[in-house]
Amino acid sequence: MPQVLNFGVLTTVLLATFTTFLTITTAASWSALYPFSHGSVSLALFGITLALAGISAYLRAQIADDRTVHTVFHRRHAWIHTGLIVMFTFWAGIWVLSSNTASAHPIDGLISRAQSQHSKLQKQMWTSRTLGSAVKMYQNRYGRPPPPNFDKWYTYATMHKSHINDGFDGIHRDLLPFYALSPEEIRHRTWSIISNPWNDAAGVLIRNGTVTVAPNVMSTHKWMLEGIVEMISKFAESLPDMDLAFNLNDECRVSVPYEIIEPMRRTGNKTRSLLAPQQKFSNFTADKWEPVPEEPNSWSPFREISWQQTFHRVGNKGCPPNSHARRDRIWDTGTFCHTCARPHSQGPFLANWTLAGDICHQPDLADQHGLYLSPAAFKSTSELYPVFSQSKAHGFNDILYPSAWNYIEKAKYNPSDEHPDRPFLEKDSTLFWRGTTSEGFSHGGYVGQWRGMNRQRFIHIANDVNGTNPPMPLLLPSSNDGSRLAYKQVPVSKLVELLPTDAHFVDSILRCGGSDCGQQAQEFAPLVPPADFQDHWKYKYLLDLDGAGFSGRFLPFLQSRSLPFKAALFREWWDDRITPWVHFVPLDLRGQGLWATFAYFHGVKGNLFGRNIEIQAHEKEAEEIATAGREWAAQVLRKEDMEIYFFRLLLEWGRLVDDRRDSLGFAVVDT
Ligand SMILES: *[C@@H]1O[C@H](CO)[C@@H](O)[C@H](O)[C@H]1NC(C)=O
Ligand SMILES: *[C@@H]1O[C@H](CO)[C@@H](O)[C@H](O)[C@H]1NC(C)=O
Ligand SMILES: *[C@@H]1O[C@H](CO)[C@@H](O)[C@H](O)[C@H]1NC(C)=O
Ligand SMILES: *[C@@H]1O[C@H](CO)[C@@H](O)[C@H](O)[C@H]1NC(C)=O
Ligand SMILES: *[C@@H]1O[C@H](CO)[C@@H](O)[C@H](O)[C@H]1NC(C)=O
Repeated sequence: MPQVLNFGVLTTVLLATFTTFLTITTAASWSALYPFSHGSVSLALFGITLALAGISAYLRAQIADDRTVHTVFHRRHAWIHTGLIVMFTFWAGIWVLSSNTASAHPIDGLISRAQSQHSKLQKQMWTSRTLGSAVKMYQNRYGRPPPPNFDKWYTYATMHKSHINDGFDGIHRDLLPFYALSPEEIRHRTWSIISNPWNDAAGVLIRNGTVTVAPNVMSTHKWMLEGIVEMISKFAESLPDMDLAFNLNDECRVSVPYEIIEPMRRTGNKTRSLLAPQQKFSNFTADKWEPVPEEPNSWSPFREISWQQTFHRVGNKGCPPNSHARRDRIWDTGTFCHTCARPHSQGPFLANWTLAGDICHQPDLADQHGLYLSPAAFKSTSELYPVFSQSKAHGFNDILYPSAWNYIEKAKYNPSDEHPDRPFLEKDSTLFWRGTTSEGFSHGGYVGQWRGMNRQRFIHIANDVNGTNPPMPLLLPSSNDGSRLAYKQVPVSKLVELLPTDAHFVDSILRCGGSDCGQQAQEFAPLVPPADFQDHWKYKYLLDLDGAGFSGRFLPFLQSRSLPFKAALFREWWDDRITPWVHFVPLDLRGQGLWATFAYFHGVKGNLFGRNIEIQAHEKEAEEIATAGREWAAQVLRKEDMEIYFFRLLLEWGRLVDDRRDSLGFAVVDT
């Protein structure tokens, strides 16, 4: 009898469960943009209500199984109806009361969480006060002894007052898979890169403590090679003889598929050993490193796919096969991909910089960055070739080194009487950006790749070009005393009135062809004359947007008293030592958080939706971050710090390419 009765009840339960599931998933995807959306809260409650009603009715029907079908149906319906009416009233009340409000600004939380994370990190990076403890720390972390000449490195670091003795995990991450290749194979692969100028890579040779540039290198990148040679020369006497291949392009080069690189990493992990019977690098004779030929070798491991889409051919290969980046293609590029942004976001704010740099949950980036849409110069390989690069996107296996651009200060923080860097509060409260359309090449085909590029997107949003932006979220006070906040979608035309920006492309449109040049010139008019780099210090807020590769200006921005805002796919050698929300303000590449983030610091006062609103400014917080970034940069991003990082990297590399690498290591000799 109950089985028959329960048909209706079970349907209710199933329906309720389905509704709950639907509401929870909807709520979750909405909450990427609006964590306190009343829609999601109340829908979720509604779903739970239905589920409870269904379950109670089911239980009741079981109790009533001695009654007639008719009666039970009757009672059950009455019960469900009463329950629903009660819960609906409750739910409607919650809708009205809860609204999409918050009592604290999410950025407050992000800042304080980042601060405690940074102080923890700082301790981990700087624990060794003696060579002995640095060695022990190294062994604990990486499961092998440090490389030969580690004592020389340690002395160098101490002499130059390094604040970081132990925090070099980036080097370990970059080099680990190379342990799966034999030293001879790595040497040969280096040769095949630098023996053919078409590869856009320069060979740098270290012989008996002297650094030279290999023959047949293009002269266009003189500054880069001079900087590299200058940097390595500081410590070359402690390095074994070796050849290195430096990427001359901005774009990263090596993307080994996940299925291949993961086993290589595991192999690298297995070669751990704490024995170090040999403390000196092998003496290399010339024949260990094949000479770079005068007559170029014509074979190349690289494949050129410049000016084409690269995400699905190269960019996503480092992700697991079942990841969104490998499985999903986003065809509807006009809509915002909530599931792509949610994992690393809190509302429109970027909450986790590390995760935001992981593209595996972000298939929409295929159409949102110059590197993936149409890189200007892109020659890549899917085999593990040793290429030293200045920056890379997630999933690439290039070896990061400190950029010579920063080392020789091509863009220098150099305030003067004419261009003073005044205290933060005295600066012009404007978000400032100048740059060119250099992120990728928009060649005038049917696609118009520039429309998806990161720089173009941000400048479009910041200027509300043509009024074609969708409304963007702002967190506004929702009660009179300002104690509650609520997300509202605000037309960008209104935002540009309330929040001052000065963000423009300079001069003329670069890296374009056909109609894409004229269209961009029209879209981004007026193009402005180039500014003196030292003009930046006039402004409180400096925007840093990815171009084709590493950022040439981020370090000077950090060094200044201004506050940098950074949106980036690329990661550089310093990524582990700088903490977002403590030293700079991170932004999502999609730009959805630009206005809400800027509004938090700058404050907003004006008329919106027919009423006067005021968002409290957080200039004290802004100044604190600007100052913390400046002070921390003066401690860990000095030229000396670049040398120290590079020194350690090349000692590791020297061991990796040594035939006796498994028995090589530094050990403290007990006296
Ligand atoms: C290497 O340099 C040292 C010291 O500068 C010098 O004495 C030695 O002869 C050099 N060896 C070779 C093979 O050039
Ligand atoms: C290497 O080994 C360490 C510890 O044994 C482990 O934490 C790490 O995840 C491993 N890495 C890889 C890539 O297997
Ligand atoms: C390298 O050569 C030097 C001098 O030629 C010699 O003293 C040293 O023992 C050699 N090192 C190794 C590891 O063979
Ligand atoms: C950011 O995400 C990474 C990877 O999921 C995680 O390990 C880390 O704890 C997160 N950091 C914060 C501050 O939540
Ligand atoms: C924006 O305005 C320019 C000039 O008024 C026009 O050429 C262009 O097509 C417009 N773009 C869009 C997307 O409407």
